[in-house]
Amino acid sequence: MRTSVSLCLVVTCIQLTNYVSTVKLSEDANLNTTGLATKYGHPATHYDVVTEDGYILTLYRLHGRSGIPVLLTHGLFDSSDTWMIRGNTSLAITLANNGFDVWLANSRGNRYSRRHKTLNPDTDPAFWQFSFHEMGYFDLPAIIDTVLDKTGANSLNAIGHSQGNTMFFVLGSEREEYNSKINVMIALAPVAYLHHSPPPVSFFMQISPTINSLAKLLDIHELLGDNTPEGRLVHSFCPASKVGHKICLYGIVFPMMGFDAAELELDFFATASVHFPAGSSMKCILHYLQVGHRKIFAKYDYGTKLNRKIYNSTNPPAYRLERVTMPIALMAGRNDRFSSLHDVAVLRRQLPNVVYYLENPRTLMNHADYMLGKNLHVYLTPYVLRVLRKRNNFD
Ligand SMILES: *[C@@H]1O[C@H](CO)[C@@H](O)[C@H](O)[C@H]1NC(C)=O
Ligand SMILES: *[C@@H]1O[C@H](CO)[C@@H](O)[C@H](O)[C@H]1NC(C)=O
Ligand SMILES: *[C@@H]1O[C@H](CO)[C@@H](O)[C@H](O)[C@H]1NC(C)=O
Repeated sequence: MRTSVSLCLVVTCIQLTNYVSTVKLSEDANLNTTGLATKYGHPATHYDVVTEDGYILTLYRLHGRSGIPVLLTHGLFDSSDTWMIRGNTSLAITLANNGFDVWLANSRGNRYSRRHKTLNPDTDPAFWQFSFHEMGYFDLPAIIDTVLDKTGANSLNAIGHSQGNTMFFVLGSEREEYNSKINVMIALAPVAYLHHSPPPVSFFMQISPTINSLAKLLDIHELLGDNTPEGRLVHSFCPASKVGHKICLYGIVFPMMGFDAAELELDFFATASVHFPAGSSMKCILHYLQVGHRKIFAKYDYGTKLNRKIYNSTNPPAYRLERVTMPIALMAGRNDRFSSLHDVAVLRRQLPNVVYYLENPRTLMNHADYMLGKNLHVYLTPYVLRVLRKRNNFD
């Protein structure tokens, strides 16, 4: 409570500062997925997907003439906007321009998927009891079945960023029947291991137990959502002034994701920081921290007593990556602090069906360039298109 109040005070101060020095944001800053899709020539339709455990997810579709479905799954705290904010050079728009039938997922708890049949995200903490595990176990099957049902296809292509891949590793190992529904999974900046991340990311892994206790103490369930104090803080501070852009980009984003100032310019970053973050659960972060801390890609650690009850073992079981038999194309970046080359190498050795591996030619390729890079159409899109065309016999 006290945290919320002090954060609100900070927000008010920031708004006063912004009043003195506001910058004009590009039109795209205030367009949502529907608005961006229309502006760049592919008006979207949307579907409400209901998961087995009652979450209601928004799934967008940019119809493509080829009928070949490509599902895009965003990363942690992100949303479907991310695939389009670079406009004409963005991945979603380029895929649609090339005739693919583009589907944009939104994971439970984000701006577009903050709904449930019975739980209220504003008043029921139970709504937020999920991590990437539930996204892989419940969200993906519901989304995949919807795409296959609407298109009549037997399998789909997927492109994931960061957590958008973690979900698929959970799916493939926990619900093996879904492996055959994936024609190819293009994993951009994949995350299953985090124990080779450099500082400052590694620091958070080290203090993971402390962060866990702190989250419990402060009773935090939703994190960085549009209406949370910290979400409002970020959205009012980062985009609003030149000083805000600089502090957020150079003080937070680059240290966490890898420095690449040529690809993520201040003006564009202002636009991106209106779209991102789009909210998720605290439990998601905690789960990742555990993975990094324990150096095992395993299920959520509830503590010895609850683990015994839930898993019948004191430690949470590791995900069985050898069961992830879907064809996977891994794409990694040398300057990526969440998906380090070392950790991707560990993952690569464990996955049984890696059909393609690319260390991105851009030396400074960081965690965000995959969606937000100014020239991603030069150093990323051609590789993605090549894999899609090859795996679908389509040119
Ligand atoms: C997207 O923006 C349009 C125009 O502002 C609005 O009518 C629509 O409700 C928005 N959609 C969502 C899901 O927020
Ligand atoms: C995107 O590209 C198309 C085709 O090159 C062009 O007609 C359109 O004006 C561009 N849209 C925007 C918003 O830049
Ligand atoms: C729990 O684990 C023990 C030891 O591994 C095993 O013998 C037992 O059958 C398990 N119980 C259940 C319900 O799976």
